[in-house]
Amino acid sequence: MATRFIAQSGESQFLRQDFQQKLSHWNRQKLAPGFPDDWDMQFRDDQAMARLEHAFMEELRAQVRDRAAQAPTDPDDFIAWFEALKENGPGQNDALFPWLAEQASRDEVRWFLTQEAAGEAGFDDLVALTQVKLPTSAKLELARNYWDEMGRGNERGMHGPMLSQLVEILDLSPTIETTVWESLSLANAMTAMATQRVYAWHSVGALGVIELTAPWRSAHTAAALKRIGLSQSERRYFDLHAVLDVKHSRDWNELAIKPVVAEDPRRATAIAEGALIRLSCGERCFNRYRAHLGLEA
Ligand SMILES: [Fe+2]
Ligand SMILES: [Fe+2]
Repeated sequence: MATRFIAQSGESQFLRQDFQQKLSHWNRQKLAPGFPDDWDMQFRDDQAMARLEHAFMEELRAQVRDRAAQAPTDPDDFIAWFEALKENGPGQNDALFPWLAEQASRDEVRWFLTQEAAGEAGFDDLVALTQVKLPTSAKLELARNYWDEMGRGNERGMHGPMLSQLVEILDLSPTIETTVWESLSLANAMTAMATQRVYAWHSVGALGVIELTAPWRSAHTAAALKRIGLSQSERRYFDLHAVLDVKHSRDWNELAIKPVVAEDPRRATAIAEGALIRLSCGERCFNRYRAHLGLEA
């Protein structure tokens, strides 16, 4: 079925503004708590959209499949391959971030964060959706990670609201309509992997590679916020992730990835694909942001 959606000309019908906006709206509606009366309309929409979402994911997979196939399937070797993505993965050490830290104006930082905030799929919910029916070691590690996202039971320490607070402080208005498709597609790909169970191992890889690569980006973003005058408490979302995700990444690799790969080596390839899909989506964002902000590649 999926091949039906692959464009003849090589131009994607998924990596574009109209489709990604539609998918973002569908995801928002699909995940929002609702009522039984909404079911009929939602269900009709769901079948068509789920098929398109799957075709979108298969297109992203096709782009990373060759590289992922080279990932070793021995657990220790796989972790070494996975951790090397921090240096050699798509979009790593992008010039956008030192520029944000050192030079961007307040409005340029605000534009960047508006795009990022609108494209934020909610790490906590993605973890919660992904952990369903996972083997015990991975399930426990995702639970610990989730509990940190929940501020270990304290509202003030919850990560999601911490980001919302920053959006308010900077007076940002993130909306689907004003967000570039690259950022929407990142959130949509993360949501697809966390909700479609055929991509459950992909999601473990995609979430794990966020933990692996977030500290560098967060440290630069925190520096940008400090430079434009935000206080320590105002920028704590990024200060926190610059440090905490180093530990999250270590634990995720050791306790969520290694044991599941040891059980079934096919999972290594799926985890590798998920990680590469996430990083490629990020790379497309950075390219678009740089173009918008007038930066050289
Ligand atoms: Fe977090
Ligand atoms: Fe984290």
